[in-house]
Amino acid sequence: MSDRPHLEISRGSLSVGGFEAKDLAEKYGTPLYVTELDRVTRKLKAAEDELSSRHPDVLIAFAYKSNSTPAILKALASRGAGATVVSANGLRLARAAGVRARDIVLDGPSKSEEDLTAAVRMRIGMINAESVQEVLDIEEICAGLKVEGCRVGFRVNFGILADTHAGLATGGRSHKFGVPREEVVEFCESHASELRRVKISGLHSHVGSQISDPSVFRRETEELLALSDELSRSGVEIREFNVGGGLGVDYGEGKEMSLSDYADATAGTFARSASKRRSRLVFELGRWIVADSTVLLTKVNYVKRAGATNWALVDAGMNTFLRPALYGARHRIVAASTKDREESSVVYDIGGPVCETTDTFGSGVSLGVSLSKGDLIAILDTGAYGTAMASTYNMRPFPKTVVVSGGRHRLAPPAT
Ligand SMILES: Cc1ncc(COP(=O)(O)O)c(C=O)c1O
Repeated sequence: MSDRPHLEISRGSLSVGGFEAKDLAEKYGTPLYVTELDRVTRKLKAAEDELSSRHPDVLIAFAYKSNSTPAILKALASRGAGATVVSANGLRLARAAGVRARDIVLDGPSKSEEDLTAAVRMRIGMINAESVQEVLDIEEICAGLKVEGCRVGFRVNFGILADTHAGLATGGRSHKFGVPREEVVEFCESHASELRRVKISGLHSHVGSQISDPSVFRRETEELLALSDELSRSGVEIREFNVGGGLGVDYGEGKEMSLSDYADATAGTFARSASKRRSRLVFELGRWIVADSTVLLTKVNYVKRAGATNWALVDAGMNTFLRPALYGARHRIVAASTKDREESSVVYDIGGPVCETTDTFGSGVSLGVSLSKGDLIAILDTGAYGTAMASTYNMRPFPKTVVVSGGRHRLAPPAT
């Protein structure tokens, strides 16, 4: 596949990183996530190169919520990625992966005392607060632990509503995320100087995921810059700017922002502001780094007809891969190993084993061949929000992941 060089797809067969899907499925069982690790690290490097060519101090703090498989986190950390996490457990995972404390960011609209205490104790790079009360809570925790100079940023809600799936947009004025701009200004003008242990030194914005329009990122970056200028007049100096994640991928609709357009809109906009040369610019990319590294292999249990529909019923369900049931997401599906290799125009609806009508992965799917019991199909681009959202719903086993790297494959246990 030209845009997915780690995948070789021919009629009725698939290989990932040089390994036949059929052999991997036989060895490890299905449903099975297969991740080509080098694809993940190559994408990290591509993003780093592009962004740091525009601004000297860039950190890609990989969004652990998109994929928390420790083997993947370690590979990213060993190549310089930081971590964006949303819980105390995420903080521990990042340290175990080898991320330096100063390269860890804690986000989340409703952090528990345990989350905040763990972050303060670890002296991480930045806690992005989502309310004024949270800042005061952090101050109190710092006092209890006798910690000083705790770096805290505001996740700001600028009211930027990105054109993406409604369930993936987080920047609307009435969304639960962030602190309204006016409130940030008011707090910094009136109360920031009263803080003894917390140092307000960051600004953060994340307006959603799967965004394909660069102007959203440009506007977000401009808003962050303008706000920091305003805050500096009340003595609050912002040293870390965080533009969140959200860079979208092409799941088959032919819509994807180029990396250079993204870098221009963010780091490029930032670099034009000469006074910010000494600030760190943080990116919380998740989906773009991992999505296309991974396929989900699933076996056909039954093929049956219902009315005018041909169903291929597979062993992966919404517990294995939730995005289609949660967001109506549609991913490309290909035949990975089929008995029949004759060209066929038959189309299928693909359903799972879970007793929910939304437990489907696609409708009217053409695989180019016909399916029968025991065949293997692959759902593409499942590296982001795949295993990360998996569960044991319906008492089904948690899906396994295999990582392929440098001519080898091995089981990669999930985070615990
Ligand atoms: C605060 C925050 N940062 C980063 C991300 C990662 O976004 P993406 O995977 O789209 O890059 C998310 C995802 O929802 C998020 O909520």
